[in-house]
Amino acid sequence: MDLFEKCASFTKADEIKALNLYPYFHAIEESEGPVVQIEGRKVIMAGSNNYLGLTAHPKVKEAAINAVKKYGTGCSGSRYLTGTLDLHVEMEERLAKFMGKEDCLLFSTGFQTAQGVVPVLVQKGEYVLSDKDNHASIVTGNLVAAGMASYTGDGSQSIVRYKHNDMKHLEQMISGLPKDAPKLIVTDGVFSTSGEIVNLPDMVKIARAYNARIMVDDAHAVGVIGVGGRGTASHFNLVKETDLTMGTFSKTFASLGGFVVGDRSVINFLKHHAAALIFSASPTPASVASALAALDVLEKEPERVDRLMQNARYMRTHLSQMGYRVGEHDSAVVPVIIGDTEKVLAMWRALFDAGVFVNAFIRPGVPPGMELLRTSFMATHEKQHLDRILETFRAVGKQFGVAN
Ligand SMILES: Cc1ncc(COP(=O)(O)O)c(C=O)c1O
Repeated sequence: MDLFEKCASFTKADEIKALNLYPYFHAIEESEGPVVQIEGRKVIMAGSNNYLGLTAHPKVKEAAINAVKKYGTGCSGSRYLTGTLDLHVEMEERLAKFMGKEDCLLFSTGFQTAQGVVPVLVQKGEYVLSDKDNHASIVTGNLVAAGMASYTGDGSQSIVRYKHNDMKHLEQMISGLPKDAPKLIVTDGVFSTSGEIVNLPDMVKIARAYNARIMVDDAHAVGVIGVGGRGTASHFNLVKETDLTMGTFSKTFASLGGFVVGDRSVINFLKHHAAALIFSASPTPASVASALAALDVLEKEPERVDRLMQNARYMRTHLSQMGYRVGEHDSAVVPVIIGDTEKVLAMWRALFDAGVFVNAFIRPGVPPGMELLRTSFMATHEKQHLDRILETFRAVGKQFGVAN
């Protein structure tokens, strides 16, 4: 059989397109944040991770433009060689300080950050303990560590998956591992599909008892939870106890890039060993400058974080009152659980036709029965936007028999 046979026989996406129900890869033609233009029509965006709405902030845009004028469009090299700008160094210092850690290292994306940290830190005879629902970047990072996805790992590291946010199960699994073996517990801070916040206090107790370090992926937590948007560790007042926090510029920071913060010696080690850093070009001048400007806004205007949370709470409450099954967690992600793939796709289309864009999550992205419409909100959604989204959800929910 030919290698490409599997590609030629993959017809699922085309079948859904033929039904006019395909919810992915729709090109945005213009964007102001809460309102975007798709296929020539203005629609309200209710599925973006642009949590503080800063992609449209004049200072953030201006910073990107000025960086292009000063440094050009790209770095053409990795951080290791010719790709370090003073902007990267400034952002690392600022982020380390913001997150309350000694040092920081930037990567070109959040996805690469996980690849750059997990397989490098967890070596032969050491263990990764990973939440079953962790983001794909961590899952791939784990596979790399186990030598299943790249040359980096030698296959002698062990990956242990524990039940989602289940600290009893984590303890059960960790207690069966060699007591003195070094271990890394990896978890999302705010889980990207459900918006659930990790049980960090219990995780810290377990880590202490079983010789483990903790790494939290705060992609959906920085700018959202914690004091002034400082993320999960800050939310629980456990900054010192959380060894490493990684994050992304692709959400609150309105740009593209990734980062990890932690102790100076750890960051220094990663800097000199992470293939994802050493063999990949550094984030572009415009990417770092805009993320820096977004950090300025976040530091100067923490009230934006409060507005974001108020918006998400307003939506959670009203969607729930309409009879929808929604995630209960206090973050900016509000999943609307429908539990059926066909219904999710048909509702996605009806919402889109009525001028509201959400994300359709179907299997294998979610377990059977958990097919959902993922909504997420921004600090810059105004009440009129939120009420339009609610009205549309009410009408579509009635049509499909899932709302009253
Ligand atoms: C939890 C989580 N981690 C990591 C990433 C990857 O970030 P990036 O978009 O910077 O690659 C994402 C993005 O979807 C995410 O949701």
